[in-house]
Amino acid sequence: MTQLVNQINDAVKTIKKTTDIVPKIGIILGTGLGRLVNNINIINTISYKDIPHFPVSTVESHEGRLIFGSLSGKSIVCMQGRFHYYEGYGMKEVTFPVRVLKKLGAEILIVSNASGGLNPLFERGDVMLITDHINMLPENPLRGENDETLGPRFLDMMEVYKRDFIKLSEKVALEEKIPIKKGVYVSLQGPCFETPAEYRMLRIIGADAVGMSTVPEVIVARHMGMEVLGISIITDMGLPDILEPVSHEIVIKAAEEAEPKLAKLVTAFVKAL
Ligand code: HPA
Repeated sequence: MTQLVNQINDAVKTIKKTTDIVPKIGIILGTGLGRLVNNINIINTISYKDIPHFPVSTVESHEGRLIFGSLSGKSIVCMQGRFHYYEGYGMKEVTFPVRVLKKLGAEILIVSNASGGLNPLFERGDVMLITDHINMLPENPLRGENDETLGPRFLDMMEVYKRDFIKLSEKVALEEKIPIKKGVYVSLQGPCFETPAEYRMLRIIGADAVGMSTVPEVIVARHMGMEVLGISIITDMGLPDILEPVSHEIVIKAAEEAEPKLAKLVTAFVKAL
């Protein structure tokens, strides 16, 4: 057994001492998006610091715990707080929790993030369903030794974000009257936001939104065969010719303002699954 598998088993063993729940769905809450938790019927929580091999989050707005419970009657585990490459973690650390969620039973991953809008038809506060991604991070989480019991050495990436999930999300969004956009998410390492020239380049290469997360976790989820729904909240607009300054505070404020839409969408999506 590889060291990674041993570490996953260690973490799962510790978590299982605190809960009997076998979550069907894993949810990752992005920056400023922690309040979806209000819709969860929480059964128990475990702090990241109490789970072996889990990194501890450093970004202030991230609380750093796993929440077990039910959402729309389905058993879930929710990561409140995630790990970013820019914080200094390696990709194995960034993605370790997703491996644990899968081992706990989650076959589906719902992942959210705050991102900058590149598509001029978007505006701040929009909810974007991720249809595909571009990976511009400097390291791939699957680099290095591959454990075939976890997933394949060479991973097909044809349909990373499950089309049926996108269709279902569109359907429930319409029913719930939540306006949504769809688009391609590009991930950069950060922590700088982009220069005007970079925003322009990212638009030219085909991206609709830019952020600093999500892609590593999604690659690892797909590596283990999980089915993925990705949602971005557009917290600022990266339009190079009319660019306004952006800060972490602006991102958090916009994410918090848009959060009720995300919470409603995810809750309705889970119900419809
Ligand atoms: N760029 C990168 N990451 C982001 C942005 C952005 O403009 N907004 C929120 N996360």
